[in-house]
Amino acid sequence: MNCFTIHTEGDAGTINRHIYGHFAEHLGHCIYEGIWVGEDSSIPNTRGIRNDVVAALRNLNIPNLRWPGGCFADDYHWRDGIGPRDERPRRVNTHWGNVIENNHFGTHEFMDLCEQLDCEPYICGNVGSGTVQEIRDWLEYMTFAGDSTLANERRKNGREEPWNITYWGIGNENWGCGGNMRAEYYADEYRQYATYCRNFDNPNLYRIAGGPHDTDYHWTDVLMREAAARMQGLSLHYYSILKWENKGSATQFDESKWFTLLQRALVMDPILKQHSAIMDRYDPDKRVGLIVDEWGTWHDVEPGTNPAFLYQQNTLRDAVLAGATLHIFHNHNDRVHMANIAQTINVLQAMILTEGEKMILTPTYHVFEMFKGHQNATRLPLVLQSEDYTFGDEAMPAISASASRNDQGEILITLCNLNPNHAVELSGNLQGGEFTSMTGRILTGDAMNARNTFDAPETVKPASFDGATLAGSDLKIVLPAKSVVALTLS
Ligand code: AHR
Repeated sequence: MNCFTIHTEGDAGTINRHIYGHFAEHLGHCIYEGIWVGEDSSIPNTRGIRNDVVAALRNLNIPNLRWPGGCFADDYHWRDGIGPRDERPRRVNTHWGNVIENNHFGTHEFMDLCEQLDCEPYICGNVGSGTVQEIRDWLEYMTFAGDSTLANERRKNGREEPWNITYWGIGNENWGCGGNMRAEYYADEYRQYATYCRNFDNPNLYRIAGGPHDTDYHWTDVLMREAAARMQGLSLHYYSILKWENKGSATQFDESKWFTLLQRALVMDPILKQHSAIMDRYDPDKRVGLIVDEWGTWHDVEPGTNPAFLYQQNTLRDAVLAGATLHIFHNHNDRVHMANIAQTINVLQAMILTEGEKMILTPTYHVFEMFKGHQNATRLPLVLQSEDYTFGDEAMPAISASASRNDQGEILITLCNLNPNHAVELSGNLQGGEFTSMTGRILTGDAMNARNTFDAPETVKPASFDGATLAGSDLKIVLPAKSVVALTLS
């Protein structure tokens, strides 16, 4: 009953590597402590940026990093974050706990981070409380090569050459924290801001409009109708949350909460379908990318931590959910050009948690690492028949899977078993090329809430997987309960 066919020479389009993007906001301990410790810190750092975090993120082939927010972006004034650090103003971070933002991590520090990570910056400009001139000046400061006052100010602050910026957000959640605007009003604001967000010495600025959240299809319709011609991307935010007013613990949950949270995550598929269908009406050639620049799980904060810091633990449940969501993005690779899990470090569904000089990798980190071979690979047509995972009166497919082929002709097949109780047996048929060798890795644990802690940092980590056998074009897999598996065939 559980079976799949993969057309190994097929081509269902490229899986844009930017689907594996990340997001770091000035929120809680994401930037400060998570990334920035300052040059004088005893934690090993390069120009103030943690070396351990950079090494871990480089291992994911992190393609892009969104900054400085989130809600913070529409209350951020870039001039606060340039020049000598001890002269930078101290501001109140009004969105995230009214803590003091000393602006020690600003434009130059962020661009240094991106260079250390070898990833593309994705900067979100301020529409909610900023001005058109402020946003266009930021671009000139960063990207103009000539002899202008702003470009010379950048030089005075230590950066001779302009930076190359491609991804440029024009506001964040402008229906909410970014100004509480109506779609019709924001569409006009967007048109004006986008006009002045110029290509100075950037070859191709990719302007991303602040998009809808969840099922706000009206927002998508208005933005596409009024402003599609001036955008390259439209953002979408969708979080997997049990209940907004009572999100529940990240670590203490029963099977009903395991089931419901995964169910919430799988809703990403119909949401993408619906937004894509609206976009198709105005942009049938799919020029405008749907940029899912905030997604992931949102639980209650860890007991005893500042509620405004959104610090949550991360278990096998988050990992399986991440795998299944990434598969959904693959399936929408014609429209979804980028996605950014929220957030990289110490906030929401993080890759990394830090405590002083200690750092741990979360189960979600390991999924991103196991899946990294899909980045920029060719998606292969995959037809899957899966048994249901049922709970009470409700059901969802137990298996989620995706396959791609890289430039060397290797095939990566990733699978998740969403059922926490039973292994599933699967037969695969590989149509096309001949494969003689296979390696496998698995991420699982003995409990639904298996996790890594500072005392036991390696409880959940990939292990080699011997539950698959390859005989000619036939693949047999026994996928253990609550697991994520990656198979590489050559
Ligand atoms: O990721 C946390 C917050 O969630 C972001 O700042 C905001 O854009 C969203 O509501």
